[in-house]
Order: sequence, then C-alpha cells, then structure tokens
Amino acid sequence: MTKTHEHDRPHLEQADWDPVEAQEIIAPFVRLKGGLMEALHGLQQAFGYVPRQSYDVLADAFNLSRAEVYGVKSFYHDFRDAPAGHHVIEVCQAESCQAMGSRGLTTHVQKMLGIELGETSHDGHFTLKAVYCLGNCAVSPNITFDGKMHGRVTEDKFDKLMQRTAGLAKKGENA
Ligand code: FES
Repeated sequence: MTKTHEHDRPHLEQADWDPVEAQEIIAPFVRLKGGLMEALHGLQQAFGYVPRQSYDVLADAFNLSRAEVYGVKSFYHDFRDAPAGHHVIEVCQAESCQAMGSRGLTTHVQKMLGIELGETSHDGHFTLKAVYCLGNCAVSPNITFDGKMHGRVTEDKFDKLMQRTAGLAKKGENA
C-alpha cells in the first residue's frame, strides 16, 4: 500500500475549500475567549479537516500571524491537514497501553497499513492516529477502529479486525 503525508494531497483540499463558508464559520468565534480553537473545530467539522487556505482567514480574523495560527493548529493532534481516510484507526500510546505492548502493536499496524502514525494511505482507505489514553486502561492495549473501542488488542486480534473490514468491503462491492 503506498502512503502519503496528508499535505501531499492538495487536490482533496482544493476541491472542498469554500472561503465564504469559512468566513461564516469563523465569524461567531472572533470575539470569544478561546475562539480560535472553536473556529478550528468548526472548520474541521464543516470540511472534514482544516484547509491550509483557512490560515490566512483565521490570522486576519484573530489578529494573529499565519505562523501563530499554524502553531496552534499543529499543537493539537485532533486537527487534520487533509480529509481522513475511509477507516480511521487510533492506537493508544499512553502509559498503561505502552506497558501492555502498544509499541509493538503500533509497529505491526504501521507495517500492515504501510503508513506511519499521523498518515493516510494514498488510496484514502486508512488513517492511522496516535491517541493518549482512551480511558480504558484496564484492558490495555487499546485501539479504536472507526470510532469503536477494542481492548486487549494483540497483533492477531488486529489482523482479524482488518480481515473483517476487508470482508465487509467485499460484500458491499458484490451487493
Ligand atoms: S493508557 Fe491507553 S487507554 Fe489509558
């Protein structure tokens, strides 16, 4: 599976970008404390990611430099640079999961998908993300697969999840 960093897919960004809509999303937050975060969340909700073109609009609205906007956006792992893949997998990297083998599991998942943490596969099928505690430490290591939590995940269990996903996709194609 070929991989791409999210910023290598400008065609997806440009297709979705709408400056008028972005202005409308940002406007209600401009005078609020913590408004920049709210605006970033609003943009991601509307576009599925935070379009690069929005940095200038945000900088103007909040009287910040583009670099400051970028700094805030990049500090929070939740904000994406491109639309997420069809399937989103999060692997917990926090202490309890690490103690129960999440590092090895992460390496396995990366190998299976052919992408690193924070990347989306070139075909747009998978996005792989790091998360820091899913609040499910008792059954570490944990992952989420399309928003569903899975505990005590072994390499084998992950492979089965992938097989099930591939099976469902095939069924969908044949339906
Ligand atoms: S450390 Fe992974 S769920 Fe808490």
